[in-house]
Formats: sequence, structure tokens, C-alpha cells
Amino acid sequence: MNPSHLIIKKRDRHSLSQEEIRYFISSFVKGDIEDYQMSAMLMAILLNDMSEKEIFWLTNEYINSGVTLTFPESHGRCIDKHSTGGVGDKLSLMIGPLAAECGVIVPMISGRGLGHTGGTLDKLESIPGFQTQISLDRFQKIVRENNFAIIGQSDNIVPADRKIYALRDVTGTVESIPLITASIMSKKIASGIDGLVIDLKVGNGAFIGTMDHAHQLADSMSKIATDFDKKIIIHFTDMNAPLGRYIGNAVEVIEAIEFLKGNMEPDLKEVTYQLVADMLILAGISENFNDAEIVMNKAIESGRALERFRKGIELQHGNPEVIDDYSLFPQAKHKIEIFAKQTGYIKNINSKDIGYALIEVKAGRKQTKDKIDYAAGLKLLKKVGDEVAKGEPIAELYYDNDHGNKAAKEIENCFEYYEDKITTSSRLLGSHK
Ligand code: URA
Repeated sequence: MNPSHLIIKKRDRHSLSQEEIRYFISSFVKGDIEDYQMSAMLMAILLNDMSEKEIFWLTNEYINSGVTLTFPESHGRCIDKHSTGGVGDKLSLMIGPLAAECGVIVPMISGRGLGHTGGTLDKLESIPGFQTQISLDRFQKIVRENNFAIIGQSDNIVPADRKIYALRDVTGTVESIPLITASIMSKKIASGIDGLVIDLKVGNGAFIGTMDHAHQLADSMSKIATDFDKKIIIHFTDMNAPLGRYIGNAVEVIEAIEFLKGNMEPDLKEVTYQLVADMLILAGISENFNDAEIVMNKAIESGRALERFRKGIELQHGNPEVIDDYSLFPQAKHKIEIFAKQTGYIKNINSKDIGYALIEVKAGRKQTKDKIDYAAGLKLLKKVGDEVAKGEPIAELYYDNDHGNKAAKEIENCFEYYEDKITTSSRLLGSHK
């Protein structure tokens, strides 16, 4: 087969066969198809979409590009959650240990930052020593010992997603239903889960902007779950404003630790509790949200969820002392305060532009080879619904490079104001039926 013929076929809106998809993906993983050819194919898929069959074959090829794990001893309790990408989304860092402490087995395969959104792996690597590329044997051992572990795609497990994900990040090819479906579902199915909870983020800071589009992605992921005989709950959540109070890498890990210590931002608590409750229900541990809430409160109040995170860090070679001493995280040299441009109530905070502004200070990548500055990040002193006076500090930017002033100006413009009091609404937008 000739790669450029297949690119032309997709460009001209024809469907690819199973053999063609297999050839394209496996040749790319082996290095026989170049990045520029894969980039052209990804753009053709983004523009022209794929049929249900093509999405199934694509997901299957991603899975078959590496090994598939199993946790037969879990007896249906092996449940993961995946968020479709957001700004300030540190949910996995809290959900892994919390669900694990409540009895769920969570073998999490996560990604790096994608587009303007942050990635769980980058956040975890801000913990000194933490390794996200451990052997699969070790991964399985840690999952069996601590009920959860978090690693990245590798040369052994979904290598197709590892290579394609990195290319999509820098070629404007993230926002595609077939590509998101294959990327998420392959990672989860390869990790040996019995069921999956999806946090499908919708809004300006997400890859999916409208509920209509969100339903299409939910349909696509549900079909794949059914094809592979996996239980699934899909929750739609609002991603117009950043989630929680911190955005970046080290700062988000600290916010997650605070959460596990019981100091919870209301929006983080609302989404985390809903998703973990869904995991407990799929695992057969709880009947409903109220039952699950009792179990979750106990895990937090007893300090046991926090201890699970500490142990998880240690087992993945990170320094567990960060839990008690935040000065062990990388520290930014500079801080700029950002001030309200007018008096009123904060109506919205444009999370997509915040994500891009933070890439300027290296909290995310412009190119795959870029190194992240783990210390760079933002603290929101004011959130949607808060009253502010003109000139009052609304955010703090932490950074180390020469682009702090430019990023601060961009962030200042991300705040929208309104004269009258705003009623804040729930982040939970309902589940996919
Ligand atoms: N998360 C993923 O793992 N893949 C995507 O394509 C988008 C979000």
C-alpha cells in the first residue's frame, strides 16, 4: 500500500478499509510512515470524519499496537475514569487514590498536555523523582498493592496513541471525534478495565464546545464500550471556566493534595464526588450517590485516601515528603499579580485563552520536544460569581522565562465582568443516556 494514496482517499472523503487502517497505524508505529504523512492523515480525518466501522477498526489497531493487561482478580471492580481534557483539571490525581481507598482497582493510563489543556503525566512528573514510564510488570504490581497507579502510553502499551497523541498536540488535530474516541478508549481497554467513567468536558476550555457535539462524542465512545463489552457511564461537565483554583503542573498537584487533606474547592468536590460515585456504582461497591458519599467522606476524613496517594508517589519513585512539604516542588522565581479591570461580578474566565497564555510561560508545550516548566502556573484569587473592585488582585502568575508580562496581559483579558450579581451554576450537566 502507498501512504499517500490512503491520505488522498481520506482527503476525498472515502472510507478506509480495516486493512488500510491497520497498515497505516502499524507502519507509523514501526517508523515506516513519516510524521508529516501521519499529520496529513490526521487532518484529513479531522476534516472528513470516520464511519462507525472505521472508528472501531482505528480503536482496535491502537489497542493491538501494544499489549493488553488483565486484572482477573478484580471481579468487576477494575474501573477507570477519563476526562476528555480541560484547564485546571487535576481530577485524576484525586480520583485515583480516593476511588482506590473506596475499593476500586484503578489502573490508569493517562496522557500529557494536549493543545491548551494540561496532562496528568506532566503534573505527576512535577513531583521530584516521580516516574510515569515504569515497566508494565511494575505497574501491575503497584496496582495490586495499592489499588491504583498512573502511567503513560509507552512502547509496550498503546504505542500508537503515544506517538499520535504527541503529533495531534502540535498539528491542530485534537478536536476530532474519531481521534478522541480511539485515543481514550484504546488506553482504557488496553489497561484491562471492567468499566469506565468518562468526564466529557464541554465548553470554551474543552475540545468539545457544544452539547450537540458532546452527545456525538458520547455516542461514539458508548458504541466502542459496547463493542468491547465494557460498562460505561458518561458524565457531561462544564469546562467554560478553569476547574479549581490553580492551573499549571506543580500547583495543581498541591491543590490535589489539599483536596485529599479535606480542603476542597466546591467545584472540584462536586465533580470529583460525582465521578468517584459513578465508579463505585459501576464496581458494585455502592448502590447510589448517597451510599457512595458516605464511603468517600470516610476515606477523606480518616486521611486514608491521602495516605494512598503518598504510597502511590513512593511506589512510583517520587518523593512522598512533598505531601507535607510543598517547598520540595519546583519553585518559580517570579510572580506577577493580575488586577481587575473593572468593578462588578466575574461573569466568566476564558479557560482556553488561559491555557494558551500559560503555554507562553512553559506550563505546556508548543512543540513535542518542548520542556515543561513545572513551577509555572496560575492561582485564581477570584472565581466566577465573585464580586471585585477595579484594581483588586484577581490572580497570581508564577513563571521563570521572559514571557511573564505578555502572559499576564493575556490572562487579564480572560476575565469577563458583569454589573449585577451572578448566580453560579453546577459544573454537572447531566449524564449520557
Ligand atoms: N484525552 C485523550 O486521552 N485523548 C484525546 O484525544 C483527548 C483527551
